Amino acid sequence: MLAQHNLHLHHRIRFFLITDTVVTYHTYISINLSNMKASRASLAILMAIASSASAFAPTKFNTPSSTLLRATPATSSNFLTPELAQSCIDVAGGTPLYAYSLDSLAKSADACLAFPNAYGLTVRYAMKACPNGTILKYFLSRGICIDASSGYEVRRAMDMGVPAEKISLSSQELPTDFEELVKLGVKINCCSISQLERFGEAFANTSQKVGVRVNPGVGSGGFSSSTTGFSKTNVGGPSSSFGIWHEFVTDGTVPAIVEKYGLEVERIHTHIGSGSDPAIWQQTAKLSLSFCAIWDTVTSLNLGGGYKVGRNPDEKTTDLIEIGSPVADAFKDFAKEHGRELKMEIEPGTYLVANAGALVTKIQDKVSTKSSSSDDGHIFLKMDAGMTDVLRPSLYGAIHPITILPGSGKSEDIGTDVESVVVVGHCCESGDLMTPKPGEPEALEERPLRTAELGDIAVMDGSGAYCAGMSTKNYNSFPESPEVLVTADGEVHLIRKRQDPKQIYENECDVPDGVF
Ligand code: LLP
Repeated sequence: MLAQHNLHLHHRIRFFLITDTVVTYHTYISINLSNMKASRASLAILMAIASSASAFAPTKFNTPSSTLLRATPATSSNFLTPELAQSCIDVAGGTPLYAYSLDSLAKSADACLAFPNAYGLTVRYAMKACPNGTILKYFLSRGICIDASSGYEVRRAMDMGVPAEKISLSSQELPTDFEELVKLGVKINCCSISQLERFGEAFANTSQKVGVRVNPGVGSGGFSSSTTGFSKTNVGGPSSSFGIWHEFVTDGTVPAIVEKYGLEVERIHTHIGSGSDPAIWQQTAKLSLSFCAIWDTVTSLNLGGGYKVGRNPDEKTTDLIEIGSPVADAFKDFAKEHGRELKMEIEPGTYLVANAGALVTKIQDKVSTKSSSSDDGHIFLKMDAGMTDVLRPSLYGAIHPITILPGSGKSEDIGTDVESVVVVGHCCESGDLMTPKPGEPEALEERPLRTAELGDIAVMDGSGAYCAGMSTKNYNSFPESPEVLVTADGEVHLIRKRQDPKQIYENECDVPDGVF
């Protein structure tokens, strides 16, 4: 429920009061691993209970209202002052561009590496979030390994110098060259029964180590409160095709395949969604330990990513110590019960990069549909970027903060005027909307921003994850935007050049004369 009260003060200045409803969950079953028998029968019962929708029944409560009071324009974005934004523009040779803060990457890496654990931790960067080689190399230098989601990502990481044995692959599509990747040292988590069969056929009776990704029966994603229903960022539960459905693991189907091919399951993997509810993540993490009891060859449990970050001032970032501590205790309980000290793996994408990145654009047009006869009109600011660079608002109705900075690149020109506007992208597509209503990609929302002129800079924060790597690149034949890295002392380095427009169509081929 979102109530927005427009307390009219001035035709350009508005105050917004946002009341948000947050959903939290209580687990109605308590899973005491120390008392749990590892027998298949008891696991099957446990899983049956846990998979029922009531296992994670929602309890609604209202958070206190937060008031976003923006009577004066912001003087900088998350990490870019007008002057620093201008340096990025100079280095990239114009807008649009993505800027990443090295300082912010360092802080998120520190937080992930300090994730509570009982017997050792491997942090894997979910490289799909932002696959630029410089980012991969930075995380590698910090001792962070890689989570890849396709054979191509594996090869890309290896090309960037990541050793094969530091890469694990959990993919919707088992690459055709998976046998070679395994021989090179890549760790594969089989994400379906058919993947496990193909893996088994390739490595029959070799005791080849393998991981199994389990769909634990519940999921949690940032754009839906349902733990079992469909949402674009929820990847657990019956509405999700990711991983092997838990009942096939507990009813003996998967153990029989493992036995048939003489494989050795060394790793269990679960990932329930992005922007997941911390309470649900925590409960699922504990539940995931029960799958490790099935094979006594399991040495590590990968709990996936999904740690929600607050991109906007009223959103909370997951406290990794708070969610991780009880899970680390559960690993200790497991060790007492089963005599195995399991290593923990986590594979965050969003948490590591989301707030370290910003899209830097220019306002290239401004139009109005306001009229004296109707209240339906809006002032629209048009960026020189859009869904070609940040797709999340169009795809999910995701909210990214936007800061307008003066086109002069000088803080002294910020001024005091604020205006309520709708911000849109540069594509000929009404879905190219940068300010949707929260969670509603189809509905637009006005935001109070510094009054913009053509040529002003618009910075879209929270654009480090799933933006450069996930957008409608080249739609309307707009070239791919460059990327720069900003150091703590304000040095700017180009880490990807702007795409030459000719590269967009260089792979096209002519048909022979006479075809048309
Ligand atoms: N591990 C696996 C197996 C995954 O599929 C993902 C994300 C992650 C880790 C990292 O999740 P994260 O920590 O970034 O939440 N495009 C969406 C999120 C969907 C990502 C899909 N898988 C977004 O823009 O928020």
